[in-house]
Amino acid sequence: MNILVTGGAGYIGSHTCLRLIEKGHQVSVLDNLCNSSHEPLRRVELMTNSQIPVFIGDVRDADTVASVLRDGQFDSIIHFAGLKSVSESFDKPTEYHDVNCIGTLTVARTAVQLGIKRLVFSSSATVYGNQDTMPIPENAPTAPTSPYGESKLAAERVLCGLQDECSSFSIANLRYFNPVGAHESGRLGEDPRGVPANLMPFLARVAAGVYRELLIYGNDYPTVDGTGVRDYIHVVDLADAHVAALSALQKRPRRITWNVGRGVGISVAQIVSAFERTTGINVPCRVAHRREGDIAESYADVTRITEESEWRPHKDLDSMVRDLWRWQSLNPHGYSGASTPT
Ligand code: NAD
Ligand code: UFG
Repeated sequence: MNILVTGGAGYIGSHTCLRLIEKGHQVSVLDNLCNSSHEPLRRVELMTNSQIPVFIGDVRDADTVASVLRDGQFDSIIHFAGLKSVSESFDKPTEYHDVNCIGTLTVARTAVQLGIKRLVFSSSATVYGNQDTMPIPENAPTAPTSPYGESKLAAERVLCGLQDECSSFSIANLRYFNPVGAHESGRLGEDPRGVPANLMPFLARVAAGVYRELLIYGNDYPTVDGTGVRDYIHVVDLADAHVAALSALQKRPRRITWNVGRGVGISVAQIVSAFERTTGINVPCRVAHRREGDIAESYADVTRITEESEWRPHKDLDSMVRDLWRWQSLNPHGYSGASTPT
């Protein structure tokens, strides 16, 4: 397939570009680099001995999107471009709706107008909000608790509406749980700007000595050990779920909503233990108050994706922390460091 990857320079997008090229697909990227740089794509090109056409532009700019889509003659789109911080979305709700919802509408509507057949969308488990029962199936009621989650749910609805109007247009809403880890080569990984808000990149920087200690946000949740439980999935397994979604849409035009996780709940304390055991590095921790907006537990029912595709998660928690640590060790300054491998 000839695929346009919006947001392809980002964390999940760059790993997905790599997997798509390894599977023989042709890949181009549209990204405004607001949270990334050219470097991950340069590395993907080196790792695959290929060239990736990169268009710098904003997915909300209808003229840019139309010109990229028309010239590229793509048959499929994977739409990663978006803003992803739950906490930032409370400060900038309009920006989150603009980029995540209007950006998705702009890309998808133009795709329909140009006869592009399929689009895979980066949705999020945050569309579920608080749920009483675990694991969470796709037909659970949606109840996002942040502007970020609301913008993802609104974008899903925009896509479903377009698909209702045009049955030859296929969509896949992939609801990611907690993507973590890095490519096993240590050449691709997550490079958050500023102080990382998420558990795994912060933990890696504590282990590297950048920060003194990891704050565990609450140990009095009704969970296995009192700390928050999430469904962590290796970013390479997640990348492969996009390949599986495209292939399912290619076989039969339709609308898909899939949870993408491992279906396994893991606590913060279990993550810390796994990291210490796998790397041999002690991680200083301190229990702090619960983080505002956090939920106790969230993990996926993955029955649907495993029944409707051949996709399976292959990488366990030890692989996630081992690959995270390799990435952190080889790239102490992320993609901007001088000692980065080429
Ligand atoms: P990321 O920030 O690393 O990648 C997003 C990419 O989109 C970046 O390269 C950024 O420059 C680009 N981008 C942002 N706004 C743009 C715009 N207006 N026009 C063009 N490009 C733009 O994030 P990621 O972790 O790779 O996430 C990818 C997608 O997956 C996002 O839509 C995110 O909401 C979603 N998602 C992420 C997670 C997670 O925990 N990482 C979980 C669930 C869903
Ligand atoms: N946590 C800590 N200390 C930290 C950071 C996090 O104890 O320094 C805890 C949290 O309280 C939570 C768990 O680690 O229990 C995971 O927190 P993350 O911030 O890593 O992830 P979230 O589940 O809060 O949210 C993530 C992404 C969202 C995405 C969501 C579901 O940030 O964008 O997963 O996919 F939508």
